[in-house]
Amino acid sequence: MKKLLITGGARLSGTVRIHGAKNSVLPVLAACCLCTSPCVLHNCPDIEDVRTALAILESLGCKTRREGSTLCIDASGLSKFRVEKRLAGKMRSSILFLGALLARCGKAELALPGGCPLGERPIDLHVKSLAKLGARFRFEKGILQAAWRERRDGDIFLSIPSVGATENLLLACALMNGTVTLHGAAREPEITDLIGFLRAAGADIRGAGSGDITIRGVKKLHGATYTILPDRIETATYLCMAAGCGGEVELQRCDGRLLAPVIERLREAGCEINCDGSEIALKSSGKLTAVSPVTTAPYPGFPTDAQAILMAAVLRAKGESVFQETVFERRFLHVPELQKLGADIVLSGKTARVRGVAHLHGAMLRAEDLRGAAALITAGLLAEGESEVLGLSHLARGYENLEQNLKNLGAAIKSVDIPAPFVYNT
Ligand code: UD1
Repeated sequence: MKKLLITGGARLSGTVRIHGAKNSVLPVLAACCLCTSPCVLHNCPDIEDVRTALAILESLGCKTRREGSTLCIDASGLSKFRVEKRLAGKMRSSILFLGALLARCGKAELALPGGCPLGERPIDLHVKSLAKLGARFRFEKGILQAAWRERRDGDIFLSIPSVGATENLLLACALMNGTVTLHGAAREPEITDLIGFLRAAGADIRGAGSGDITIRGVKKLHGATYTILPDRIETATYLCMAAGCGGEVELQRCDGRLLAPVIERLREAGCEINCDGSEIALKSSGKLTAVSPVTTAPYPGFPTDAQAILMAAVLRAKGESVFQETVFERRFLHVPELQKLGADIVLSGKTARVRGVAHLHGAMLRAEDLRGAAALITAGLLAEGESEVLGLSHLARGYENLEQNLKNLGAAIKSVDIPAPFVYNT
């Protein structure tokens, strides 16, 4: 087990190449189950959640191979329909194999999904919507069992634009006789990417990027070659880090259009940001001003995944920045850790008020979730003196090469082993 040692205060300058989006590649890997000939996916990050998805595919009888950032998936031999607890429990996205296996095998068995502890995270919308389309569910000994009793088409209304439920419905309905229209579907770019892949594999889906998506089922999906879109949250992470620390960074192979609310706040804070095609250049003096209130919301609103990271960037900004979290119940787990650095944050229900302080000091910090981990590292980079960040297993689930990228930008950061007797819950 490792921890990160960070000596704050360095400006960040240089270039970072952004990886493919975690939240795109995971549903696309589940979608590969539907394809009866091999798929080639370019721009796939080498992160723990992707390794888990590949292990699930292998456990179902698929062949997988990585060549650099390209993944080759052959699901022609898929022969099993059960996702084991040891794999399902590692990440939230394992739930997407529900829709994928229902489509391919007509039945699915899954242990309940794991992932970041952001609150309840129920799957009632997934289950209710699939039940409306004719799936029958049983929950026994920790395993969710699903099978089609009959297949019905028609309209599905989602009461919340759930990303995961929309993805599961797309997967479950891509192969069928009949047409399903989703109303109130999630509009995240990663949904559009999943639809792009499914269409490349022969699916008939209209309405990507809107709340109304129509899926006309087809009999068969073939293999496809597809490039995963850039990770907008990884992009936001480096932008926030450089904004807070000061410096000049250029991010390559990313897409600023997917990040408008984050870029807007960083400009308000005093950063100069230029988006040009697949590059974003940011200049920051490191002396920021508070941003206008941030309320997290489904896309195209402010992404909940960037809330903690932007909060860390403005800890020293002049004035008060207010963050309201509306998507998840427990998405302020980073706040008590940031307070250890001397941050002035008042938490009340769904709202965190951050008043900028002149100085932050180093402290020992423990990450409890993936984006919280990125926020703690951001704050450690801003603080004077040395900080330690534990809980790196969360970080490994979603960021490739973060430590090396930060070193290349000039940060004083290194990972060290935690001596065995101290390895608790890291
Ligand atoms: C996905 C992303 C996650 C991001 C989130 C919101 C992946 C792997 N994860 O998570 O990074 O933070 O979208 O943009 O893509 N809900 C229900 N019942 C359900 C499903 C969801 O009540 O059946 C609620 C959730 O508790 C949450 C809200 O809906 O409050 C949004 O969740 P959802 O959009 O489903 O998020 P995920 O797909 O889990």
